[in-house]
Amino acid sequence: MPSYSKQFSSLPPYALADVPKIKAELIDKGVDVIDLGAGDADQMPPPQTIRAIQDAVTKERFSRYPFQRGLPEFRTKIAEWTKLRFGVDVDPFDEVLPLIGTKEGIAHLPLVYLDPGDAAIIPNPGYYPYFGGTHMLGADVIEVPLRRDNGYLLDWNEVPANKLKKAKLLYLNYPNNPTGGVASDDYFKRAIEFCHQHGLLLINDNAYSEIAFDGYRPPSVLEYEGAREVAVEFHSLSKTFNMTGWRIGWVAGQNEAVQALAKVKVYYDTGVFLACQAAGVASLDVWEEFVPKQVAIFQERRDAAVEAFREAGFEVDSPKATLYLWVPIPGGEPAVEFARRILLESGVVLFPGTGMGGGGEGFFRVALTVPAERLREAAQRVAKVL
Ligand SMILES: Cc1ncc(COP(=O)(O)O)c(C=O)c1O
Repeated sequence: MPSYSKQFSSLPPYALADVPKIKAELIDKGVDVIDLGAGDADQMPPPQTIRAIQDAVTKERFSRYPFQRGLPEFRTKIAEWTKLRFGVDVDPFDEVLPLIGTKEGIAHLPLVYLDPGDAAIIPNPGYYPYFGGTHMLGADVIEVPLRRDNGYLLDWNEVPANKLKKAKLLYLNYPNNPTGGVASDDYFKRAIEFCHQHGLLLINDNAYSEIAFDGYRPPSVLEYEGAREVAVEFHSLSKTFNMTGWRIGWVAGQNEAVQALAKVKVYYDTGVFLACQAAGVASLDVWEEFVPKQVAIFQERRDAAVEAFREAGFEVDSPKATLYLWVPIPGGEPAVEFARRILLESGVVLFPGTGMGGGGEGFFRVALTVPAERLREAAQRVAKVL
């Protein structure tokens, strides 16, 4: 066999690689495992979405190659939704691109901009395609730590001037996975200004824009002056409509970046299954009635989990958005060892913070993907182990 590429060989190992095996062994032994690891909700998509795909798969035109243009109705619906939700106009054909889940777009976009020697600024901890898409090109990853004491906001002023010179991309993700941090209007305005100043493309990953609590409404970066020249924003149907497995999302914003990504994707894929795009139209159609019910479910879970983990002795912040609690590990135990010990001794899967980069050391993440009473039970089991 040929040897692996340098970039492949230097990909860090996946922090949770052995968890599925341990979990399966525990289940075989009769342990009632509670999995709070992945951000994969236990709820169903809207019934209208399911009916739409059932109908679409019976039609010949939806069985064809979608190509990057995809289903015009989906593009138009995305533009309508963007206007309705954020008050922002985007051209459905020049400024929107459907994606096979936002992850692929996030990971492929650096192909447009980065050569070896160039760099991308990413949050640490952060969603791993920011790292992967950049690293695989042999470009430099400039990791900026997210800290609890400044609300987990990426401070681009921490990037040294010599590294900043090489940077072309700035990845932001608010509401933030894994920390639950959120960003103010002022923060986004300063980010846009910074990108103008330094010739960067601002890539805002807004996958959690709809999962927000206590009346908080996360903004779109595209709402702010100057964003249209320097920013794109990723959106996903995964979390908003419980469609993680359907693989559908989109990018919108700066038209040259969107068009360039469409060109790259011609060489990698042939677009999102058209029946799935038809289902995406149905989801966005019922957004106004569906999302508040979902948010109420997640808010109840958040409250139950925050209370239960506090009672278990953890110092937990209550997040304003996302599906996650980000919890400091007491006593300085490394995150992976802590998560493995908890799994083996209590049957609770927690996500070790380092699964999303070294900046996550000292934390674990709890996904609100099981009912409130299971979250309470998980916290009690963890407390017992400790
Ligand atoms: C921050 C962030 N962005 C994007 C995604 C990916 O969404 P999709 O399922 O659309 O690829 C996730 C999924 O976990 C995420 O946490």
